[in-house]
Amino acid sequence: MNPGPVSDHRGHGQAEETRRFRQRNVEVEAAFFLPLLSRGMTLLDIGCGPGSITLGLAGRVSPGRVIGVDIDPVRIESASIAADDSGAGNVSFQIADAVNLPFDDAHFDAVFANGLVEHLPDQRAGLAELKRVLKPCGVIGVRSPDWGVALLEPDSETMRASINLRNRWQHHSGGHPETGRRLRRLLIETGFADVSAGASAESHGTDSGAAEGARYMHSILEDPALALLAAERNWANADEIQEMRQAWTDWSKQPGAFASFLWCHATGRAPSDS
Ligand SMILES: C[S@@+](CC[C@H](N)C(=O)[O-])C[C@H]1O[C@@H](n2cnc3c(N)ncnc32)[C@H](O)[C@@H]1O
Repeated sequence: MNPGPVSDHRGHGQAEETRRFRQRNVEVEAAFFLPLLSRGMTLLDIGCGPGSITLGLAGRVSPGRVIGVDIDPVRIESASIAADDSGAGNVSFQIADAVNLPFDDAHFDAVFANGLVEHLPDQRAGLAELKRVLKPCGVIGVRSPDWGVALLEPDSETMRASINLRNRWQHHSGGHPETGRRLRRLLIETGFADVSAGASAESHGTDSGAAEGARYMHSILEDPALALLAAERNWANADEIQEMRQAWTDWSKQPGAFASFLWCHATGRAPSDS
């Protein structure tokens, strides 16, 4: 399901997240954006994580320059190592905050963000900053999960309660679990032109895929910060969280276990007079 971290300051589970993010690639996560890219473009990947998608984007726009930025120094270090290993000469990584980017106005031909917008407390301010660094008519592509939609087979109230708990936690941390459905509206309200949106499902439909889904939910439910907050707010006690964890384990072992989650994407252009 790979929705990204509930909050970007939590340490527990980060290794698991980084492992999952490394499996992402330009052909899947950026498929919706590739038709808008061409060789020679300068591109910014914001909230690039360990950089697996960024490196793929660099291959698509080469010899154009690509910069990956992330607020988390650990992720930038890991992305820089991956870039060195890949030998890509047109990509670099640096630490930066999406809402206060260290780039001049109208610097990039393209801006991309996978799994970022849902983490920005002020999403409109963040998108306005992305628009600022785009050249007039430059292209933007954003992609975020929508945690308001989940297919579960077999369905389970306890698993749904765990998704609800995860969403409350993300909301409490300043994030927005139902960002996916709002991306088109957010881009239009920020002043982008030619905005269109779509969605794709990320599914767990094999034994190993179901185990992976359960492992991801475990990494959330085992976070001590979640346990503390849930107890403090009376959202769930330790026993209930343990039941949720067990429900995911039991689900993943059932023959025919299936889960599917929605990711939405939107593209647009900076206005010609920006
Ligand atoms: C769900 S991960 C996605 C990583 C990568 N784009 C991918 O899809 O594999 C979200 C990333 O956004 C970063 N992030 C969160 N808030 C940020 C901000 N304000 N500025 C820059 N990066 C941010 C996090 O550190 C994290 O690496």
